[in-house]
Amino acid sequence: MVMVIPFLVMLVASCSTFDNINDLRKLRYQGGSQKGAEVCASCHEQVYNQWSKRSRHSLATKSKPFRHAVKTYSNHFIIGQFMDETMCYSCHGRKEVNEGVNCETCHGTVLPGVPIEKTHSDKFTPRLKEMRKPDFCARCHQSKTPISGDALSSTFTDWQASKAAASGKTCQSCHMKKRNGDERAYHGFDTFIRDESIYQGDITISRIRTSRRELRLTIENRIGGHSIPAGGPTRILALELSFRDREGGELFTRRITFAKRFSLLPIVGTVPFMLSENTQLRSNEKRVLRVALPEDILLQPKRVVIVLRMYEVSEEYEGNVDKAHWVSKPILKREVGL
Ligand code: HEC
Ligand code: HEC
Ligand code: HEC
Ligand code: HEC
Ligand code: HEC
Repeated sequence: MVMVIPFLVMLVASCSTFDNINDLRKLRYQGGSQKGAEVCASCHEQVYNQWSKRSRHSLATKSKPFRHAVKTYSNHFIIGQFMDETMCYSCHGRKEVNEGVNCETCHGTVLPGVPIEKTHSDKFTPRLKEMRKPDFCARCHQSKTPISGDALSSTFTDWQASKAAASGKTCQSCHMKKRNGDERAYHGFDTFIRDESIYQGDITISRIRTSRRELRLTIENRIGGHSIPAGGPTRILALELSFRDREGGELFTRRITFAKRFSLLPIVGTVPFMLSENTQLRSNEKRVLRVALPEDILLQPKRVVIVLRMYEVSEEYEGNVDKAHWVSKPILKREVGL
């Protein structure tokens, strides 16, 4: 360990990234003390319900994986030297309030000692203009790894490169669009964790063909706005193929994953260091996949069952679904004769 710390300091210093690390500690929202979402709930019941029941923002400080990951980093005898919980709370909300990314995190804190109407006219209304731009979401939905500076989460730059951006569609126009019965901009920010049906229709599989010992198929990301999975390496989309014989017995399986993969910081592990591979499906991308079939005549499949699922990992950045703590129900399931 005596050797390791100087090594790490050298590594960090040689890339002159202390700035970069301190950058991660900067609050992505306004400082000051919060009153909590209950205050807003008394007049904005519908928005409050959408946020608290559907959005993952309301879980951002509470989820088990988050609390576990914060502890792991802070308590680690090496990582703890340069990474601490202020980094995590700079995007996930206030530790002491423990409501995740709440109304005041995004809209600003209530001005103390003045009627709430004044906070509306002095702060909430003037801020809305900036908040309707994707740059506002980017503060938290775009981030870099501390040392290499590779994009850890790239939802914003993905969006910038998308057709949706070119046609003027913003994060807000897709994610906060009013639905039936909404009086105000939708605040559910749908997440897979709370509603497994949200990706229905967003990913398609087509042109399934077999030829010369391979199976070919096309997978398409139909979200015009960004990659799937969106964001960083904590989400892994997997295409799972089960090859069957005539009677339906399983002969063999294959899995193809779509994810960002990072190599970890040497020696310390757990800290994403450099982007090693990115197989996320870009917006509107159609990708042809080829799966080799065995030469053994006894293993010639007659049917294939195709399932798409999303996996979630927390402190693991190598795209390994076996370390997932959560897996979705099938987003799509098809059985095809070969
Ligand atoms: C006493 C009732 C009340 C409380 C409490 C309240 N609001 Fe409002 N809010 C209103 C009313 C009424 C409007 C609509 C009138 C307006 O647009 O100013 C409104 C409008 C808004 C708007 C839209 C402003 C605009 O110009 O369109 C935002 C944003 C907002 N509130 C945020 C909040 C947040 C965040 C909280 C909690 C910190 C909160 N409000 C608490 C009554 C309230
Ligand atoms: C203050 C930081 C912050 C801002 C600003 C912010 N988000 Fe988030 N958002 C988060 C965090 C943190 C999470 C993950 C919460 C968790 O699961 O622990 C999240 C989760 C989400 C999710 C669910 C993601 C998933 O993988 O389950 C969506 C969708 C989302 N945000 C959209 C938006 C949009 C659109 C905007 C801009 C209008 C926005 N966010 C602004 C911090 C922020
Ligand atoms: C730049 C903003 C930002 C910072 C800093 C940040 N996060 Fe996140 N985090 C997010 C966003 C946004 C998501 C949602 C997934 C995505 O889009 O990648 C998320 C998702 C997560 C998740 C998966 C969601 C869940 O609850 O299972 C975990 C775990 C997590 N973050 C832990 C941490 C820890 C630990 C730290 C501090 C070392 C940290 N985050 C720092 C923005 C941030
Ligand atoms: C992740 C950031 C985020 C969180 C959390 C958030 N808001 Fe908003 N809110 C926005 C954005 C962005 C807009 C502007 C949306 C638009 O007009 O497209 C907005 C708009 C509003 C409006 C005006 C809507 C309209 O249609 O005129 C009200 C009212 C409001 N928010 C209240 C709240 C309350 C109350 C909470 C907490 C329960 C809350 N917000 C939590 C980002 C957030
Ligand atoms: C053209 C519409 C569109 C645009 C633009 C768009 N998104 Fe999305 N996004 C979606 C759809 C559709 C999904 C799939 C889940 C759903 O239906 O909400 C999604 C998923 C996500 C998720 C993952 C949710 C989960 O649980 O897996 C995050 C995070 C997210 N978007 C953030 C953003 C941010 C930040 C921006 C702007 C930089 C943005 N999106 C722009 C349509 C869009």
